[in-house]
Amino acid sequence: MAKIITIAHQKGGVGKSTLAINLALCFQDQLSIALVDTDLQGSLYHIKEDFPELSIIGPDKLTAIQQLDHDLVIVDTPPYLSNKLPELFLHSDFILVPTKAGFFDVMAIRSTLALIKEAQTQAPHLKAGIVLNMIKPRSGLTKDIAALLESMEVPLLKTRVHDRVSIARSAMTTGILNGGDPKAAAEIMALAEEVVEHISAG
Ligand SMILES: Nc1ncnc2c1ncn2[C@@H]1O[C@H](COP(=O)(O)OP(=O)(O)O)[C@@H](O)[C@H]1O
Ligand SMILES: [Mg+2]
Repeated sequence: MAKIITIAHQKGGVGKSTLAINLALCFQDQLSIALVDTDLQGSLYHIKEDFPELSIIGPDKLTAIQQLDHDLVIVDTPPYLSNKLPELFLHSDFILVPTKAGFFDVMAIRSTLALIKEAQTQAPHLKAGIVLNMIKPRSGLTKDIAALLESMEVPLLKTRVHDRVSIARSAMTTGILNGGDPKAAAEIMALAEEVVEHISAG
């Protein structure tokens, strides 16, 4: 059965769709990937034609997601706490929660994390991680943000993704791996590797 990575955060604009497409492109050389867009606004579904090598699937029933004939399914989710999330989480292997490093951004992930915790009581294999996205150049994490993140019950991933024009443009071009920004590509690759490590840790 396909491994399922779900990207979730109830806020819009934190990079869910951007990370979803770039992670999918990153894995596609080794694995057969499906990218499922459960956002009714269908941002990824709309760029389907631009990425013919990926199978991008519109909002589908959960059973359909599980039965997809792929090694890995990456699920992008809408910017609100959809009532479909609890069931989706139960069927996932890893939930990636992107956030910006602002105090209110980090506060806003708590309801998503609570849903993950709830799912983990029923699905003990379910792993999750927070990834800091859109980090401004030369800005470290402030002490308050670091402390706040540590108090969360979901681990913070080592990989941080910086605010980069190349990443903002990546969904309009061919993804970050084929673009001319090796630092951005390295960040996405590192994120992909870290997620795989978590999933395979058993
Ligand atoms: N690391 C990044 N650097 C620069 N821009 C980014 C980065 N990640 C996302 N963006 C931009 O931020 C905006 C929101 O990203 P998006 O993936 O649509 O978020 P979400 O799916 O969570 O609503 C988009 O314009 C996207 O291009
Ligand atoms: Mg989105």
